[in-house]
Amino acid sequence: MTKDIFGKALLDYQNGNYSEDLITSTNISDEDALPLPYLFRGYSDMPKLEQRALQLSKGHILDVGCGSGSHSLWLQEKGLKVKAIDNSKGAIEVAKKRGVLNAELKPLLEETETFDTILLLMNGTGIFQELSQVSKYLMHLKSLLKPEGQILIDSSDISYMYEDEDGGMWLDLNQGYPGELDYFLTYKDEKESPMKWLYLDFETLKTACLTVGLQCEKVIDGEHFDYLAQLRL
Ligand SMILES: C[S@@+](CC[C@H](N)C(=O)[O-])C[C@H]1O[C@@H](n2cnc3c(N)ncnc32)[C@H](O)[C@@H]1O
Repeated sequence: MTKDIFGKALLDYQNGNYSEDLITSTNISDEDALPLPYLFRGYSDMPKLEQRALQLSKGHILDVGCGSGSHSLWLQEKGLKVKAIDNSKGAIEVAKKRGVLNAELKPLLEETETFDTILLLMNGTGIFQELSQVSKYLMHLKSLLKPEGQILIDSSDISYMYEDEDGGMWLDLNQGYPGELDYFLTYKDEKESPMKWLYLDFETLKTACLTVGLQCEKVIDGEHFDYLAQLRL
């Protein structure tokens, strides 16, 4: 069970009670601040990958793991039809308060409608949690696609995180896939239950897509080992 610390932080920010940022850390990295304003970013503060994903979005759109609804709001303002889902109660409350017209508290695997565009942004593969679950999530996403539909998803090759200062690698190959991280979140001294969060390099994503019958193309590379991919039937 999660304590929905992420949702609490979003609610605080939305309600004008911003005093602290979320603190993240992983099994391979130290504590880092995740500034709450970033989770409320407008188009001009979004990374190029996200801007491109929004520009490519069309038809009936599903924003998976919408958070505070930043992407959904932009699309809605452009006159597009968007459904935003998230499994964080606080996130959905905030998305609705910000004006997202169709926001539902729902985990991805419980979604059943079909869409022309499915967005998974800010390391969209994180939601898959671990390599062994990628096929299950991809098959489900495939079942939500209209015939000419597209999935736009971003992630990163994080092997650079295993490099020493002198360029050597300390990657332990017995530890499994290097993009599988244990992710820890703290807010105002409250700790969230540990989560699994998956980063997928492009080639691994592409291979997984092929095994479930999805085409996978890279749209653009980002500035720091990240990329945006487009998946189609
Ligand atoms: C890194 S945040 C990104 C939020 C937002 N897309 C953004 O770019 O600001 C990931 C979001 O995915 C949500 N999430 C995680 N697992 C999910 C699942 N299985 N189904 C739906 N949402 C999920 C989290 O609650 C969180 O809001």
